[in-house]
Amino acid sequence: MSQRSRPLPRRSCLSTPGSSDRFLAKAPAATADFSFLDLEDSVAPNEKVGARAKVVNAIRTLDWDDRVLCVRINAWDTPWTYGDVIDVVASAGERLDEVMLPKVRRASDVVALDLLLSQVEANAGLTQGHIGIEAQIETAEGLINVEEICASSPRLESIVFGPADFAASIGMPVTTIDETIHEGPSNPFSYVFSKILMAGRANGLHVIDGPFLKVRDLDALRFTANITASYGFDGKWALTPDQALVLNEVYSPSQELFDKSFDILDAYKVATDDEHTGAVMFGDEMIDEASAKIAHSFVARGSRSGMTRSPK
Ligand code: GLV
Ligand code: MG
Repeated sequence: MSQRSRPLPRRSCLSTPGSSDRFLAKAPAATADFSFLDLEDSVAPNEKVGARAKVVNAIRTLDWDDRVLCVRINAWDTPWTYGDVIDVVASAGERLDEVMLPKVRRASDVVALDLLLSQVEANAGLTQGHIGIEAQIETAEGLINVEEICASSPRLESIVFGPADFAASIGMPVTTIDETIHEGPSNPFSYVFSKILMAGRANGLHVIDGPFLKVRDLDALRFTANITASYGFDGKWALTPDQALVLNEVYSPSQELFDKSFDILDAYKVATDDEHTGAVMFGDEMIDEASAKIAHSFVARGSRSGMTRSPK
């Protein structure tokens, strides 16, 4: 719902534990499209309440340039959710763009957060609807209900896959999230990726893949990120600034594809406007309205990430 953040890219979504002043201070220096300050699983239970003030301080005092800025609160099945919203959103000010809700199981989880945000915004003097929502799908139940979840609130900006909690939820025999999941004899994630992508796109949402836990292996990260990039996902979580650099590259169109998309749009315009034909040859390829739509999406995606067309 946040008018500022909705169109911004989310190729790399950097996670920072909200209980660590040191990591919070370093986060703005990372080249990431999106930063979320975590109050959930990277924060120990006895640090949860204290982390709220650290997160508010980081939002108010650090320079986050124009990236999307988000706080991940705790899930509704914990004692912390409403306190996270009230303490953080009421004090963070206008710079906070979004709240991320983990372990979303059904549409009413998002609706409850939407209603609470409306009251907090009113009392804090924030514009109504200023705070957007990211919903994490990380249980079998959440995946089954993902279509209703994606349609549940105009505040929703992104739907996010949480592979670690999801693997636990479905009983996958793995102890980490790395590239081997995609190489095994069966890969339930391919079904998950398609289902989340369709539900997200049907509702105009950004669609984001979650963390890759073998943080030192950037080649394996690249291999894995290329899988969701090839489905059309917009980005993926980064746990380190180095991971963010890889992801910025993987989820951007190549310069060649970006330039070709402009060329397709030019050729299609000449065909339809001047020659009055709906389909035309472009080199060896037949292009038509659908090709123009695909080209538009690459132009939009590349432009959002700051790319420019190469000179002729
Ligand atoms: C992220 O939250 C995950 O569980 O993978
Ligand atoms: Mg999780």
